[in-house]
Amino acid sequence: MSKNKTSVALVTGTSSGLGRAVAERLVELGWEVIGTVRGDGTELPFETVHCDVTDDDAVARLGQYVFERWGRLDALVNNAGISLTGPMEELDPKEVRTILDVNLVAPMALARACLPALRVASGVIVQISSVSAYSSSELFGAYQASKFGLEGASDALRQEVCSQNVRVVLIEPGPFRTEIAVKGIQAGAKGSTGLYESSWVEVDAWLQWHATAGPDPAECVAAIVGAATLRDAPFRIPVGEDICEELRRKGGEMIAQADAAEAFLLSL
Ligand SMILES: NC(=O)c1ccc[n+]([C@@H]2O[C@H](COP(=O)([O-])OP(=O)(O)OC[C@H]3O[C@@H](n4cnc5c(N)ncnc54)[C@H](OP(=O)(O)O)[C@@H]3O)[C@@H](O)[C@H]2O)c1
Repeated sequence: MSKNKTSVALVTGTSSGLGRAVAERLVELGWEVIGTVRGDGTELPFETVHCDVTDDDAVARLGQYVFERWGRLDALVNNAGISLTGPMEELDPKEVRTILDVNLVAPMALARACLPALRVASGVIVQISSVSAYSSSELFGAYQASKFGLEGASDALRQEVCSQNVRVVLIEPGPFRTEIAVKGIQAGAKGSTGLYESSWVEVDAWLQWHATAGPDPAECVAAIVGAATLRDAPFRIPVGEDICEELRRKGGEMIAQADAAEAFLLSL
């Protein structure tokens, strides 16, 4: 085990996009970084470990490896994620299980595997959630379910581990230009019902825009790095154009829903 007191981060999904940029920035800041990849990671300027985050044994081994190698973990950045588009009626339950496995079950398994090392460093678990965790739109239901679930589980985890001096932070990005949309899964039964054609046209155009002309990810990378390295990050960090406004709008909508429910119940 290294006696080094250098800060250590484990970042999942570092082959591309936000995860890669976060890992590179942490290296620039002098952190030791372990990044997970599924393909070739030899070109990356940090240590890489092969890990499919849906492989429970590989995740458990990764947690053990980090503990044995560094004896501490200052930040676990649960970044690996996938997208899935399609209306509920055209989605196969297997496709829904796949996205829940990657985006919801795996981050919790990683937290479990890494908590011993996180406790040593009084570290932080940074969960890469999404604006989709509180804002739903058609054909993104499965992705939204995965991020809604991640947020619920993370809030419970936050309460469970705060007395152990381990923090949990949710990053909620709006759209940022990465490969996630083009690499994402589309419903195997896309278009089979013939009922959602105009929604598919809109979503396909949005996915293209996201991959080619979406906002520069730099702002999002800075938010994730800030959450990993600074001790005063709030639990929930929406990031992106008008995203804080979207959260406030959601807050107002929930108050209106509570008012409507109260009035309905009183009318019974
Ligand atoms: N970009 C946005 O607009 C946006 C907005 C909100 C939230 N997010 C979230 O940000 C995170 C990063 O996404 P990104 O936009 O940077 O997309 P990305 O470039 O596609 O990166 C996703 C990463 O996750 C990895 N990954 C996927 N499935 C995996 C698995 N089963 N096991 C291990 N690694 C796996 C990918 O590895 P491979 O190369 O091996 O596939 C890749 O490194 C995701 O959680 C996403 O939901 C992104």
